[in-house]
Amino acid sequence: MYGRARSLDRLGELERSNSRLEQAIVTYRGVLDLADEDSNLVPLPLVRMAAENCIDRMIFRGFFGKAVRVQQRLLQRFPDDVKLRNKMGVTFLLMNQGSAAKEVFEAVLQQWPDDGFAQVHYGFILKNTYKNNSGGALYMLKGIESGAEGTDDGRFYFHLGDALQREGKVEEAYKIYDRAVAKGLFLGRYQRSLYNVDRLSSRPFWTPEQTTYQMFFRKLEENWEAIRDEGAALLTAPPQDGFRPEAENLRDVGDWKQYDLFTRGRKITANCVKAPRTCSLIENFPPAAVCKRGQVKFSVMHPGTHVHAHTGPTNCRLRAHLGLVVPDGLRLRVGNEFTTWQEGKIFIFDDSWEHEVWHEGDSPRLILIVDVWHPELTEHERKTLVPI
Ligand code: OGA
Ligand code: MN
Repeated sequence: MYGRARSLDRLGELERSNSRLEQAIVTYRGVLDLADEDSNLVPLPLVRMAAENCIDRMIFRGFFGKAVRVQQRLLQRFPDDVKLRNKMGVTFLLMNQGSAAKEVFEAVLQQWPDDGFAQVHYGFILKNTYKNNSGGALYMLKGIESGAEGTDDGRFYFHLGDALQREGKVEEAYKIYDRAVAKGLFLGRYQRSLYNVDRLSSRPFWTPEQTTYQMFFRKLEENWEAIRDEGAALLTAPPQDGFRPEAENLRDVGDWKQYDLFTRGRKITANCVKAPRTCSLIENFPPAAVCKRGQVKFSVMHPGTHVHAHTGPTNCRLRAHLGLVVPDGLRLRVGNEFTTWQEGKIFIFDDSWEHEVWHEGDSPRLILIVDVWHPELTEHERKTLVPI
């Protein structure tokens, strides 16, 4: 039965067939059921192989709840196997169940306090699910220093540095970033995106000519008043439900909201009906409209806001900001360079570089954010890159 499951599994891979894969999953589970019925029937190593393959394939198919149940069954047989326990924690993380994952890693660390894999994941959860930067940094650092398998991952360096920066330990953060650069996990100390195409040229700010899209950007500037009027009307006319608060925990203090027009290369029709001119300008320019690794959105920021230093997810897009309503007292830092917004004017930056915003003015600021494909990406890449 195990051989049959393996064969179905391989066939599923070769034929790229989900239904084969599901047959394999059912057959692996048949092996486990047999073992449950009569423990003499299936040798323990085979139970384990069947269970591990079964779990892997379930996770591949996105059947996380089922995977957890098989993991629990397996743990009953191998209660002291730390790798299995850690793997279950990861499955909970994949399911976005931070609190369940936390319990798993906490239990592991009670029994094996020096387990680097559990440390780094526990710290990651403390920081990201529980917003505990100091605790998160402590455990992520321990985990990274352990050198244990699975700890050498850009995400841990990213969030460890971020936690340190937010704690005001900026120098320590950059030491971590430099280590990650040396390991090839980041493109640069300021450029820490994790979904990259490596050969793309990169700088904090781009001129319209450097992007090759200068005609499009000029057109946006020529139409800035119409764009402003649409954005401003959306802000003043109730209900303002299209504007949603920035949800990635990037704000230190203040109020910052966004109104999506395009995300991941798709038009948000319900929002575009309320900003038809803006959307039609975008729609006529494919490198923005179908940029699957970007967005087009209005961004409103209220006085007193500080946006933490942060880094976008990918180097595959460039980000244009068109100033619409711009009071005095605003600053944007990208890498080591500073700029500010001007009404009717565009600047373009690469948001895979660390950036930070301060609004020290006394009235709201409104801009249009337009992401475009990095000009050096091929047509084939633009079609096939996974959306972000
Ligand atoms: C961004 C960003 C802040 C703003 O566009 O990536 O962080 O001022 N913007 O809206
Ligand atoms: Mn940003």
